[in-house]
This record gives sequence, structure tokens and C-alpha cells, in this order.
Amino acid sequence: MRKTFIAASFAAVVFVAVSCGTAGRRTGSTYPVVDSLMRVMTLEEKIGQTVLFTSDWSVTGPTMRTGYLDDIRAGRCGNIFNAYTADYTRELQRVAVEETRLGIPLLFGYDVIHGFRTIFPINLALSCTWDPASVEESARIAAREATAAGLHWTFSPMCDICVEPRWGRISEGSGEDAFLGSALAAAMTRGYQGDDLSADNTLLACVKHYAAYGAPQAGRDYNTVDMSERWLREFYLPPYKAAIDAGALSVMASFNELDGVPATASKHLMEDILRDEWGFKGFVVTDYTGINEMVCHGYAADEEDAASLAVNAGIDMDMQSAAYMNYLKGLVEAGKVSEKTVDDCCRRVLEVKAALGLFEDPYRYCSAEREAAETLTDQNRAAARRIACESMVLLSNNGILPLEKGRPVAVTGPLADSKNDLLASWRGAGRVEDVPVSVLGAIREVNPVSASAGTVVLVAGEDCRWSGEAASRSDIRLPEEQTALLRQLKAQRKKVVLVVMNGRPLDLSEESQLADAILEAWYPGTMGGYAVADVLFGDFNPSGKLSVTFPRNLGQVPIYHYAKNTGRPYVHPEAKYESRYLDVPNEPLYAFGHGLSYTDFTYGEPELSAASFSGEGSITVRTSVSNTGSRAGTETVQLYIRDLVGSVTRPVKQLKGFRKVSLAPGETEEVSFTIDKETLSFWRQDMSFGPETGDFKLFVGGASDKVKEAQFSYTE
Ligand code: BGC
Repeated sequence: MRKTFIAASFAAVVFVAVSCGTAGRRTGSTYPVVDSLMRVMTLEEKIGQTVLFTSDWSVTGPTMRTGYLDDIRAGRCGNIFNAYTADYTRELQRVAVEETRLGIPLLFGYDVIHGFRTIFPINLALSCTWDPASVEESARIAAREATAAGLHWTFSPMCDICVEPRWGRISEGSGEDAFLGSALAAAMTRGYQGDDLSADNTLLACVKHYAAYGAPQAGRDYNTVDMSERWLREFYLPPYKAAIDAGALSVMASFNELDGVPATASKHLMEDILRDEWGFKGFVVTDYTGINEMVCHGYAADEEDAASLAVNAGIDMDMQSAAYMNYLKGLVEAGKVSEKTVDDCCRRVLEVKAALGLFEDPYRYCSAEREAAETLTDQNRAAARRIACESMVLLSNNGILPLEKGRPVAVTGPLADSKNDLLASWRGAGRVEDVPVSVLGAIREVNPVSASAGTVVLVAGEDCRWSGEAASRSDIRLPEEQTALLRQLKAQRKKVVLVVMNGRPLDLSEESQLADAILEAWYPGTMGGYAVADVLFGDFNPSGKLSVTFPRNLGQVPIYHYAKNTGRPYVHPEAKYESRYLDVPNEPLYAFGHGLSYTDFTYGEPELSAASFSGEGSITVRTSVSNTGSRAGTETVQLYIRDLVGSVTRPVKQLKGFRKVSLAPGETEEVSFTIDKETLSFWRQDMSFGPETGDFKLFVGGASDKVKEAQFSYTE
């Protein structure tokens, strides 16, 4: 018989389930162990399962805040975040399992955002791979490393669509587009959770920050969000839903308000959309102190009121505010919160613990052996290097790249020798000591670096603390001294390759006029130094494409590829009364989907299998893509559509498909996309989701501003 960890006095209650070997298995709609526990838990113990507290790190390692261990022992805190390493989580788990009345295992969460110990490029960079397989692989590796260190749960994927480069957290998401964002959110979820959440190397995903946290007014973090329900559903919600459809069993409520209601108290988001429409079965956690903050929002009178608003809106777990711990019992006793509501929260948390296999073996994830064997391995680092190469976007190149190996280059700039910035924010357990080389170090391994060389690699960008949470900027240009350095180098008639490391779309207008080539390297992670050199010297032919538009200046923001036509589209260069600026063109500096290669790709005309289709039918669009240059390369073929007349106005171009093709020099491949009802569906005027009869344009090409078009029609 399996050894049960349930405390002796209550062992009988769960004995049957455990001895039948079904403790952690779902039978029908629930897990026997969860039912057994729910029958014997006190109200306080149930509330304990809704409480999540942080651990801290001191110089000697992880520590608990005063009182937290007592809370765990008393069953007042059932979940901990920011505690890791196999040994430390094992010790905390032992306290929960052996020293509490019911022995319910703790859930350990952590921000594993773009890698755990082996750090991958930031998520915005990952999205520029346009490659779900690579994104999934990065999450899989992160899950293996994190779970070996005792973690069960990551606060990722971050699914916030963003068209606001001032916002520092644009670096954590997949850019501006819901279609691409959905594909990548699903890929990340699959990577973390695998096929079997109870396996010792899979990690529970948390879909965040639900919802629309990526649209703060003026790009200031935590600021007000307001948009129409239609815009929300069409352009912001799909990635959250895609992650849930891929099986994610937890969701994090966002800090922001939406339509005047903080997400943490939004029944509309949590109940109507998430649970009723999408059928979400997992639990919802707040963001850090999200409950208390509703007092500052001016939505709750005090913390007790805030706790009642949150729990009644369907929020199951309280991250760090202690409001559930302090007030839920009293709220139940006062009749302001029903016991059934608390039961639902507790049950959802316990069911996820069961799905993770924690009732079968609470120590399943704490493995010092696996931690030693599977962390920062050569394979993990090789994957991080390859994926970093795939994520870089060659923005411009007058032919100077790739650099010739063995020919002297000078390397300069504030980020040239920085290992720290490569790791970016949310670096998990990543350490600067794990980074083998900076960009300078990697280039030195290939070429003599000589200060007097005629070719200069200028590594510029943003200090990594300028991206991430609470890192909004009101200016998206490079710091003036960096641009001044570029001007100076050009005045000396140097050839300059500008490598930018940053976490947001920047205004590179002046730099684009001066530099001979610009490589957007983002924050590329542990192996980023080598990856930059791989791309500069042509060992890797760049293939990244922008997942977000780069404006000419901040005045163009928000700028994104799925804009509407307006009643006065800008078509006449001399016209005044058209939708335009007096001082800059409407077009961005670098369009969504843009990214150059060291080879050339030529597209044939798109060919349709039929000029029209109807109902549940479909048509296929085919296009040939040829590598007409002299190097092997990878191209991302993009499909956009436009619905010419709708019951509500439609974007002039909207991404609806993409495929990556790798071609040898001279090789041609035919790429096809299927267009069906789903491709054409949107939130119609009556707020039903579906297609409308009419004429459509489609566009196929290698960037949103470099496409060939065709036309077709659809009948409902
Ligand atoms: C962030 C979340 C994060 C949480 C836990 C919050 O401040 O907004 O993204 O998961 O902290 O660290």
C-alpha cells in the first residue's frame, strides 16, 4: 500500500482513496482525495488553501518572513512563491505535510518567465522567432530545470497584447498581434505542462495578466485600461483563451481596471468570460497584493470589503495581501460571502494540487539529483544559443553584414561587455556567472578586435532595468550619448554595425540613417553573447521577424498593423484633410513582420483554389517562395486578410497565418494556407462571433508592408 502522508488522526478519511491508489487521480468530475479532504476541512483550513505568501532570499539563501512558517503549520497558508531549490522546498513541504493537521502539500510558484537557470531571450524576442516549436522548447527546458528545484507552478505565459512601447512590460509578452500571440501562448503552455501535469518535470502554467494589462493609458505601468468590449475580445483576449484551450489550469488577474472595474473584482472577466464562456476549470490567483490595491483604486472601502469583492467575483487565491486570511472567515460569518464560495475556491486549488500529483507524492518535484543533472546542461545552453539566434531581427543592412571572420573590427558601446544585461529582467534563477561571454568576448573569440579598425560594432540599447515591471519610459529613443557616439563614428568615416539590446520597440529613426546595419538583438539570455557573434559573422543567417511595429517616433504611438482605414485614409501626398501627420509619414520605421536575411526571397503571385467559397467550406491560397540569394536561409511567410465591408469596420490588414520555410540557394517551395469560416470570423455588430458574406482581400509576403494580394468572396 502506498505510504500516505496525511496526518494520522485524519488518515481514515482519505485512507480509502489513497489505498485504492486513486488519491491523485481524477474520477469523474473530481478527485477522491479532494472530496475526502473537503469533508473534514474546517473553514479556516479551507481559507488557508486560498492564501499565497512569498518567501524571501537573504545572502545565505531562501528564508521565510516572520510568522509565515507558523501560518503554514497552522494550515493558514497553503501556497508559497519565490521559494526554490530542491532542499529548501523539501524542508518547507515537510512542515506542511508532517506538521499540519491534514498534511495538505504546499504549492510552490515562481516567475519562470524566459527560462529558469538557463536564460532564454526575453519573451518579446522569443515571439520574433515566429516559431511555436522553439518557444515550446524553451518552456520545456525551463520546466525541467524549475521542477527539479522543487517548483510546481510558473507565473507564465504572459499573454498581454501590447501596442504601447513606453510600457516596460511589453518585453514580457509576444507583441502586438492576437493571432501570433495565441499560437505562442499555446506553445508555451504545452512546453510547461507537457502531456501529463503529474509528471515530475512538468510545470503548471499561469495565464496572465488577465485581462488587457498591456493597454495602460500612456504606457504607465498599472495605469487605467479602457477599451470597447469588441476591441477587447478581438485584439486582446485571444491569447489568454489560447493558453487556456491548451490546458493551462491557473490564471492571474491583472492589476488594472477595465471599464472602471479592477480585474481583481471583475465578475464579467472571471465568471462570464473565463468560466462560463471558455469553460476554465482551474483556479484564479490575484497579482501581487491585487486585493488591497482595490482600496487605492477607489473601488473598495477597506481591505475587508476588497476581500469580499474579490472572492465574490471568482478569485480563488490571494497573492500576498493576506486579506483572505484576515477577513474571509468573518465575511462568511457575517453572511457577506457564502461558505459555498469559499468551498469552490478551496476545491479548485486542491484539484490542481491533485492534478500535479502532489497527493501521491508531495516531494515529487524536489530532486537534488535531477537539479544537479538537468540544470544548465550543454544541451540547454545549446538550445538557448540557437533560439537566441532565431529571435534576433536584422532591421537594416547595406551589405556590411555578415562580417568577415579574421578581419579586424572595433567593438564599443555601453552594452558591449555587459553580461548582466544579456539576462534581462525576470531572470529566474539565472546568474551572471552562468553567462560565458559578453558580445565583446564572443567577437574577440572570432576576430582580433582592434580599436582602430574601419568597421565598428556598436553595442547600444537600454540598461536591462529599463524593461520589465515598473519600468515605463516617456522617451523611446536611445540615450543621447549613444546616438552621439554613433554620429561621431560616422563623422570619422567608420562603417558601423549597430547592435541594439533592449526590451521595447525603440525610435531608431536617426540611427537608421546613420548605421550601415542594425541588428535588434533584444536581451538574448545566457548564451546571447555567442548568439550575436553567430549572426554578425554569418554562422547563423538571421530569420527573426518583428512581432511588434517600430514607430518613427513616439508621436505615432499607438501604431500597429491591424489599423482601420478611417473615412479619410491617407492616399494623396499633397492632401491636407486626410488621416495623416504634418511632420512624419503614417508608415512606421519598421513594420510588423519585417526582418531581413543574408539571402533574398522572391514571392510568386498568390493563387487561389477558387475565387469564392461558402458556409463551412474553405479555399486554399498557394504561393511560391524562392531563395534567390547565395546562402541558405529561413523565411516566415505571412498571410493577412481584409474584409472589405463589414457590419463593423475591419482592419486593412490582419494576420491570419504564417509558415516558416528553410530554403537552400536556388530552391523554391510552395507554401499554402487554408482559408475558412474561422479565418474570416470576428465580433459582428450584434456581438456574435462569425463571418459575414462579402468580398475579401488577402495578402501574402515576408512582412506586413511587403505583400502580394489577391481577392476572393465568401457567402454565409
Ligand atoms: C507581477 C507578476 C508576477 C508577480 C509575482 C507581480 O508584481 O505583476 O507578473 O507574476 O508579481 O512575482
